[in-house]
Amino acid sequence: MGDSTLNFSLLHRTCSLVVILCIVHLSVTLFYYLRTLDLRLSFVQNQQMQVLSDIKNSTISLEVIIPKATSSALKNANNFVLNVTEKAKVLEKCPDPSPILVGPLRVEFGSSVSLDVVRRENPRLSSGGRYKPDGCVALQKVAMIIPFRNREEHLKYWLYYLHPILQRQQLDYGVYVINQYGDETFNRAKLLNVGYAEALKEYDYDCFVFSDVDLIPMDDRNTYKCYSQPRHLSVSMDKFGFKLPYLQYFGGVSSMSKEQYLKINGFPNNYWGWGGEDDDIFNRLSARGMSISRPSAEIGKCRMIRHNRDAKNEANPQRFNRIAHTRQTMDRDGINSLKYEVVNIEKDQLFTKITVDVGRPER
Ligand code: BGC
Repeated sequence: MGDSTLNFSLLHRTCSLVVILCIVHLSVTLFYYLRTLDLRLSFVQNQQMQVLSDIKNSTISLEVIIPKATSSALKNANNFVLNVTEKAKVLEKCPDPSPILVGPLRVEFGSSVSLDVVRRENPRLSSGGRYKPDGCVALQKVAMIIPFRNREEHLKYWLYYLHPILQRQQLDYGVYVINQYGDETFNRAKLLNVGYAEALKEYDYDCFVFSDVDLIPMDDRNTYKCYSQPRHLSVSMDKFGFKLPYLQYFGGVSSMSKEQYLKINGFPNNYWGWGGEDDDIFNRLSARGMSISRPSAEIGKCRMIRHNRDAKNEANPQRFNRIAHTRQTMDRDGINSLKYEVVNIEKDQLFTKITVDVGRPER
């Protein structure tokens, strides 16, 4: 009995010693493993920093560094760096003016246009008629606003001619067709206000081009963007013998930055029928001390698609009286008093069509 107790206690002590030795061994191994891991991680980090600083200084090319990398961690670093270079490329601003403009264009309305053909010819557009240039960051984000009702044929020509032009102008743009619902009298300026408000719900546009659906520029140097002053873009229309009908004329196609637009409280909402709303906009701009910038008569040439006066767009007999009072009414009638109801939003590759109920004239 005494012997066996002695033997057991010896065995017990030996086992404890073995266990302790194992623990010490494991701890030492773990310690050295963690140290080398640390070293490896900092090596990868250094590699990343090195390549990043090389990109910044543009002295050593990536190809020199990458073949030397062997571990999978370095491959990750490699991917990371490639992403960074991609982004660095995207960050370059597009040159002004765009180097891919071609100048004067032939514009004709003889044969009809198919939307499928226009879609095929503009494969880089994304849903809603949106586009961004490929190799550079556009100088401006521009919403093209087109007031619309029952002019499908004209819209096809507009899309056919304008999409390639706007892409050559290297703009980040979207096309918004603002379609007046129902058959009440047409209200162009209110539709333009709706276009401004709806486009901003989708994207952070900084510039707005307001274009009639039947006007096509004849020179792509007439850039559809914003300038330091509100811009009148359709300065020499064939309809007016390629001249301005009068100096204050601001109709057809114009552009305004968000800031310029807000400075005049947007456009009037109460011009129902044809005429006067563009003169009211001119009055607003001059009341706020802005002037009109224009391209030359040569670059600003454009063609209008001939058509008869639309039904429910008769000349507005109230326009003369309204134009005479712009300064008194502009602060309470504009984007700050705009009311409408969206009836439908259609997304096509070539445009966003927003059908809106803008109400009816007060009787
Ligand atoms: C109207 C404008 C129109 C211009 C040119 C003016 O009398 O008030 O709205 O754009 O004529 O047709």
